[in-house]
Formats: sequence, structure tokens, C-alpha cells
Amino acid sequence: MKKFSRLIVVLLGPPGAGKGTQSEMLHKEFGVPHLSTGDILRDSIKQGTKIGKEAQNYMHKGELVPDDIVFNLIESRVNEDDCANGAIFDGFPRNLSQAKNFLNLEYVKNADLVTSILVNISDADAVKRLSSRRYCPKCNKIFSLAVKPPKLENGTYICDNCGTELEIRDDDKIETIKNRLSVYHSFARPMLDLFDERAILRIVDGNQESTEVSKLIIKELS
Ligand code: AP5
Repeated sequence: MKKFSRLIVVLLGPPGAGKGTQSEMLHKEFGVPHLSTGDILRDSIKQGTKIGKEAQNYMHKGELVPDDIVFNLIESRVNEDDCANGAIFDGFPRNLSQAKNFLNLEYVKNADLVTSILVNISDADAVKRLSSRRYCPKCNKIFSLAVKPPKLENGTYICDNCGTELEIRDDDKIETIKNRLSVYHSFARPMLDLFDERAILRIVDGNQESTEVSKLIIKELS
């Protein structure tokens, strides 16, 4: 495996493509943090911060949170010490404006490898996966009732990592999933075109077991 002084990988794809799942794999493989704007925003909602209160209105409907909020969160997060050697970006950038701001960050310009990986799945598969997702509100670990059901204790699903009761995400209701997919299809294309023009876009087929998807991603980074 190549060694990088700063590795930046951006996981792209529709809701349910497996960005969070694959980001955790990359975090373990390369030892750089997994930065999920969705997780950061959900934590802000839980903590009842001003940003969380504003973001909740958008996330509840499956709409994008305003660019300036998300960009400020990312800009301050990448300046933390643990990001010095790189980061795995999950859910950011999400549209053309965020992508341009991302590429203009000194943090990104100074990286020796910047790669974006589009994990493609069909909308029908996205709906199926998200309908059977559970997540841990404490450590953010993701589970699938369909692929590998989590531990069940007294009729409740439990996180095998920290023992917390698992939850269904507020935006994993069918109507909200459909809107999230529609938002993705409305905003992603110009961003993907920009990454393609910059020759930093790779595409992998996400319609297979997650270990197979991981192998394809690692291959693209080798
Ligand atoms: P975010 O949290 O980023 O959600 P998302 O992009 O909709 O993606 P998901 O987390 O739903 O799916 P995923 O691709 O990570 O799949 P996962 O690995 O979990 O964003 C939520 C909201 O926050 C947005 O709608 C927006 O409001 C706001 N937001 C966030 N970032 C923003 C930004 N930059 N700008 C503006 N607003 C922003 O997998 C899904 C399920 O499938 C799991 O159960 C998993 O176990 C299972 N699974 C994974 N891989 C496989 C496989 N290969 N086969 C079968 N099952 C699999």
C-alpha cells in the first residue's frame, strides 16, 4: 500500500450507496479520520446547538442544509490535529458550489492525493437499504437488518460496539428517502463533472457485497 503524507478521499453517491460504511473501512485502512457532515449535523441537533436547530428543519425534509453552514463546519474540522495526514469525506461536498469551495481549501490544495469515489447504486436499492438501516446515536456505527442484523436484547436492537439502543434515522422515512434521492439527482451532476474535468473522479459499482465494494475502492487508491 502506498504511503501518503496527506490523503484525501471523497465518498460520493446517492443516499444509501454505502458512503458511511466504506468511509469506516477507509478510516481503518489508512488511519485518517472519517468526516461525515451528516454525523456532525446530527450531533449538533442532539446537542441542541444553534446550528443543529437550523439544520434540523432541512434534514427532516431531506433538503440540503445551506452551503455556508456546512462549509464552516468542514473548514474548522479539517484544521484539527487529527486531520493533518488527511481525511475521508463522507457527504461533503454535495453540490457544485461546495465542490468549488472544497477544491479551493488550502488543506486540499496541499494534499498529495485527492480522489473522489462515486459509489453507484440504483434508487430502488437505496430505498431497500435505507428502510432496513439502524444506527447507533452514540458512536454512529451503521447496521443493516437485511445484511447482518444487530444484537437483539429484550426486543431491542443494540450496538455491538458500545451497547447503546439502536435508532432509525429521522430522515429514513420513505417519503423523506424519496426526496433525498431527488435532491441528490438534482445537485450531483455538475459536481461530478467538475471532479471528472480535474481527473479526480473514480466510479465503483456499489451493487455488491460491501467487502467487494471495499476491494474496488482500495484498488482505485493504489
Ligand atoms: P448524510 O448523513 O450524509 O446522508 P446521505 O448522503 O443521504 O447518505 P446516507 O448516510 O443515508 O447513506 P450512505 O451512503 O452513507 O450509506 P450507509 O453506509 O449508511 O446526510 C443526511 C442529511 O444531512 C442530508 O439529507 C442533508 O440534509 C444534510 N447534509 C449532510 N451533508 C450535507 C452537505 N454537504 N450539504 C448540505 N446538507 C448536508 O449504508 C446504508 C445502509 O445500507 C446501511 O444499513 C448499511 O449497512 C447498508 N449497506 C452498506 N453497504 C451495503 C452493501 N454493499 N450491500 C448491502 N447493504 C449495504
